Amino acid sequence: MLILAIESSCDETAAAVVEGRKILSSVINTQIEEHKKYGGVVPEVASRRHCENIADVVEKALLDAGKTYNDINAIAVTFAPGLIGALLVGVNFAKGLALSLGVPLIPVHHLRSHIAANYIENEELKPPFMCLTVSGGNSIITDVEDYTSFRVIGGTRDDAAGECFDKAARAMGLAYPGGVNLDKIATVADTAKYPLPRPKVEGSEYDFSFSGLKTAVLNLLNNSSQKGEEIDVPVLAATLRQRVCDMLVENTFKALEQYGRKTLVLAGGVSANSELRARMKSECEKRGIKLYYPELKYCGDNAAMVGVQAFYEYESGNIATSSLNATATLPIDYRK
Ligand code: KG4
Repeated sequence: MLILAIESSCDETAAAVVEGRKILSSVINTQIEEHKKYGGVVPEVASRRHCENIADVVEKALLDAGKTYNDINAIAVTFAPGLIGALLVGVNFAKGLALSLGVPLIPVHHLRSHIAANYIENEELKPPFMCLTVSGGNSIITDVEDYTSFRVIGGTRDDAAGECFDKAARAMGLAYPGGVNLDKIATVADTAKYPLPRPKVEGSEYDFSFSGLKTAVLNLLNNSSQKGEEIDVPVLAATLRQRVCDMLVENTFKALEQYGRKTLVLAGGVSANSELRARMKSECEKRGIKLYYPELKYCGDNAAMVGVQAFYEYESGNIATSSLNATATLPIDYRK
């Protein structure tokens, strides 16, 4: 079954042609350079660029795969969660295509597709497993019971991990996307020099809170600038990265133990973080847990992962009608 998948939930316009877990093509048009000027994604600009680029990106995905519209058996699209104006561009384009080709339209949840990025290179990976999904807009621990059956174990009460990295990085004077650049320049954490807090969420051992950490970094930078003191940015970056990873690692392993899973999967843009990968790897080795994380090119937003998840959504009967709408927020365990 050949699926043409479309992704436009944030600042990447992407299309891919996939067959099961096999990727025939994957095209990504990123708007990073444009949003860099503003220090973050400007939703209105993102929507307009998707509008301009989507037809060319889809054409290129078909061309790269050596296929034509007539070869396609289904259209898949990210419909939630994400920037509403950005999602609407992909959803409407996908609807038009599905209608004109007379093929099914498969709605795909963005976080489910991030998890599916792990299926691309790992043929043997199958649910059930525990998954930590960390991106610019979400941070959740999910027990993946089956390809389309999810149980949320914990999540952030405020900012996402990526958002905390991005906002703190911007205040440190690093270019967008801050999380990536913060990870690059971070050296060795020094919690005596920069005593950032260790946030805990009362009443839930699996939930996260990142906004206090972000505020602590902003206050520290403001105080230093008022006193004319210089900040050692690589050390501050490493200290923040360590604190964020402490929380992610600790809660994830609690969940793994509690639910008795022997496989851990990392997903989302922040799963590219070098410290997170290294610490998860060494903890998993110690505890005999099998660890998977996506190839770097599939960590960020792309349509290949959308197409792979779409195959399982289709098999479970998740087909959209022509009234499919985009949704800005939707839990991963939503029911149709
Ligand atoms: O999954 P993604 O591409 O988009 C969303 O769906 O949100 O994730 C983007 C997020 C951004 O916050 C970016 O700064 C962060 O992932 N990110 C990183 C790294 N690479 C990307 N954060 C920390 N370390 C990295 N190496």
